[in-house]
Amino acid sequence: MPFKALWITETPDGKFERNIIERVIDDLPQGEVVIKVLYSSLNYKDALSATGNKGITRKYPHTPGIDAAGIVEISRNEQFATGDEVIVTGYDLGMNTCGGFGEFIRVPAAWVVRKPHGYTLKECMVLGTAGVTAAIGLHKMELLGMSPERGPIVVTGATGGVGSMAIALLAKAGYEVIAVTGKSHAQEYLQFLGAAKIEDREFVNDHSGKALLRPHWAGAIDTVGGNTLLTLLKGCKPEGMVVSTGLVSSPKFDATVYPFILNGVSLLGVGSAETPMTTRLVIWDKFSDIWNIKDKLNAIAKEVTLDELSLTYIDSILQGKIMGRIVVKVAADK
Ligand SMILES: NC(=O)c1ccc[n+]([C@@H]2O[C@H](COP(=O)([O-])OP(=O)(O)OC[C@H]3O[C@@H](n4cnc5c(N)ncnc54)[C@H](OP(=O)(O)O)[C@@H]3O)[C@@H](O)[C@H]2O)c1
Repeated sequence: MPFKALWITETPDGKFERNIIERVIDDLPQGEVVIKVLYSSLNYKDALSATGNKGITRKYPHTPGIDAAGIVEISRNEQFATGDEVIVTGYDLGMNTCGGFGEFIRVPAAWVVRKPHGYTLKECMVLGTAGVTAAIGLHKMELLGMSPERGPIVVTGATGGVGSMAIALLAKAGYEVIAVTGKSHAQEYLQFLGAAKIEDREFVNDHSGKALLRPHWAGAIDTVGGNTLLTLLKGCKPEGMVVSTGLVSSPKFDATVYPFILNGVSLLGVGSAETPMTTRLVIWDKFSDIWNIKDKLNAIAKEVTLDELSLTYIDSILQGKIMGRIVVKVAADK
């Protein structure tokens, strides 16, 4: 059966082209579950894969899309049956396994999660990898004893996918959130998500050369890396926690050990793609329960077609221009 997919090809002169082509299920990688993808979403990693980043995708041609939500078409695993509504985020989907920017995926059953109660497939993709990443960050902090009484939490890259999700989740969980953004026009959006204070990027871009700063925040969820991550560590209260999730500014930072050995600050990492299924199930359960942010999802999301994704949004996310989450309508429901 032919289906439509975004197809990234490498030209002989090392350039990368995007086209929407027709493929067949037999050409997909092996796996126990074939899923008809109704929705996907755009993540920073997808844009890197779609523009030829071989740290993400080794071999082309390829279909990116690290998130997918849809309906089981064929299952060779007893846990899933034709017609089940399911989601896949991370693992190797969209990296070296053809991903959610095609109308069908074929994946191992071990990657598949049943759609949580109370959410539509589209809403699951508004959450997607960005929501899972922010939630794992908060989950890890709380496992180490973080609580709203300990002080404010900074979120950087505040208007982006992970940032928007982190603000909504932290606010829902009762935290005071300081949102750090480069977009001066985003005040209303960030307040709607639950930010108590909004600061410019310079707020967490210290160049004093000091090893420690006057402590400001109890913790942070950082998407930026580089000097921003360093500043977050230096200005964190004793026993605070900084979660590193991203590198939109830089993958490198030039730290000293002082925040760790004098203030007992913890640096926590999130690698959502490789997060064990047991933790994923805890996270999706919390989305249905104490971290239910359904009331925010419509405002966070913009729905686009595969064509619009290819022509516009892949480039926009690389330029840091996206506010919130881009949800991709992939296959028609019927
Ligand atoms: N660890 C994981 O499992 C995981 C999962 C998902 C994403 N990530 C990573 O997290 C990062 C964010 O991903 P995303 O999908 O949320 O991307 P996104 O939607 O593009 O958000 C990134 C945001 O960062 C801010 N920003 C952009 N360039 C910046 C710069 N040079 N300096 C400071 N801020 C800048 C912008 O927000 P403002 O304009 O509001 O400042 C932008 O909207 C990426 O590095 C991605 O690879 C990691």
